[in-house]
Amino acid sequence: MNNINNASLLTKMTEESHQTLSIVNPANGQTIGHVSKQDNNEIMDAIERSQIAQTAWAALPAKVRAEKLNRWYQLIIDNQEDLARILTTEQGKPLTEARGEVLYGASFIQWFAEEAKRSYGDSIPAPSGDKRLVTIKQPIGVACAITPWNFPIAMITRKAGPALAAGCSFVIKPSELTPLSAFAIAELAYQAGIDRDVLQVVLGESPEEVGQIFSTHPLIRKLSFTGSTRVGSILMTQCAKDIKRTSMELGGNAPFIVFDDADIDKAVEGAIASKFRNAGQTCVCANRFYVHSNVYDDFVAKFATAVSKLKVGNGLEDGVSVGPVISAKAKENIQAIIDRFVDQGAAPVKPIQPYGGLFMAPVVLRDVKHGMKGVQEEIFGPVAPVIKFDSDEELIDMANDTVYGLASYFYSQNIHRIWKVAEALQYGMVGINDGIISTEVAPFGGVKQSGIGREGAKQGLDEYMDVKYLCFGGM
Ligand code: SIN
Repeated sequence: MNNINNASLLTKMTEESHQTLSIVNPANGQTIGHVSKQDNNEIMDAIERSQIAQTAWAALPAKVRAEKLNRWYQLIIDNQEDLARILTTEQGKPLTEARGEVLYGASFIQWFAEEAKRSYGDSIPAPSGDKRLVTIKQPIGVACAITPWNFPIAMITRKAGPALAAGCSFVIKPSELTPLSAFAIAELAYQAGIDRDVLQVVLGESPEEVGQIFSTHPLIRKLSFTGSTRVGSILMTQCAKDIKRTSMELGGNAPFIVFDDADIDKAVEGAIASKFRNAGQTCVCANRFYVHSNVYDDFVAKFATAVSKLKVGNGLEDGVSVGPVISAKAKENIQAIIDRFVDQGAAPVKPIQPYGGLFMAPVVLRDVKHGMKGVQEEIFGPVAPVIKFDSDEELIDMANDTVYGLASYFYSQNIHRIWKVAEALQYGMVGINDGIISTEVAPFGGVKQSGIGREGAKQGLDEYMDVKYLCFGGM
């Protein structure tokens, strides 16, 4: 790796602390590295250092913070290949996807470097002639994040980018399963001139303990979390005591809808992209498919044929499009969901090929009914249950029949239907004739139990800023 001295980083961390964590490649079970875990006191120290560093960081002109962020962006781009290989080795996704994630992750740093210079306030017409009213925006202070294993780089940069741009300092706890990517990009931030106390990566004694510290420590003003709704709810409850701000990007149960006026080939293309990206392990992956009865057989046949061409294997190998799932427990859960659907009368369109290790064949299940057990669950794996529908009204009820509200997708070529359905879907994001909606320029986030707050876009910066109102009297 050009700029990342992993060996010295890891040795330093091992010397400094007591416990180490082994990082395992999900494609072959081999240990690929060790990182140290901090104890609770070390995490408290990190937060205190973060508080001291934040004052100086916030005092820098936004333009200077932006320059440092732009340098960080460029270093990530320069190291794309090495970062992608670290990512695939610890997380499992195919190398092409990992390269894409590095670019996607870097895009948040670049976007927020620009936004840093545009955190404008307002001038408000006063209700009386002797007053002048304005608002300014100021950084919240020390912010922290708990990030998941499915996007070990992008879920960090989507939070760190706006936090640092706003003038916050930032403490991150990455997933214990994928910390190497986190340490690698943090190292590049330091090389870009971002102070080590402004951006810190910590791994604690347990995720629960770090969550407890982050959500109760008096110096922390904001917690951003990406993960399950269950854990998000615990963290929000803990944060409520001291009225800490939170951003929560939680579970999803995305419907993928194909109307009978859809371009079926395009719908199949979108379905493959949306369902099998990262082996189905994203919060925005299509989770259940609703296809109009007039085109059901056609869609299912074409979809299953496209799925049968996906190559399962080690993400470092050429041509692989579906890597391993993250753990034995995940594989067990996904298999249980398939078995439950089959027990209730659903059927795999093609015979399911058994794979060893953490690999799983991508599966299309037909004859699934909306009322079956499993339809309400977030699958987080390469399984596509396909349900038939007949009317738009019935479809909207079924699509909205979930506690989640993150992403949704539909394919139609009728502009009247497109507007009606887009407005009726109770989701934070709607892909219309498109299976990939994620981008740094648009607000990512959900409604209902899928979370609160938005990441990326112009909205992303506000999550790390307070609005202050200034009232000038006697003018
Ligand atoms: C996620 O799964 O949480 C993020 C997916 C994305 O950014 O596209």
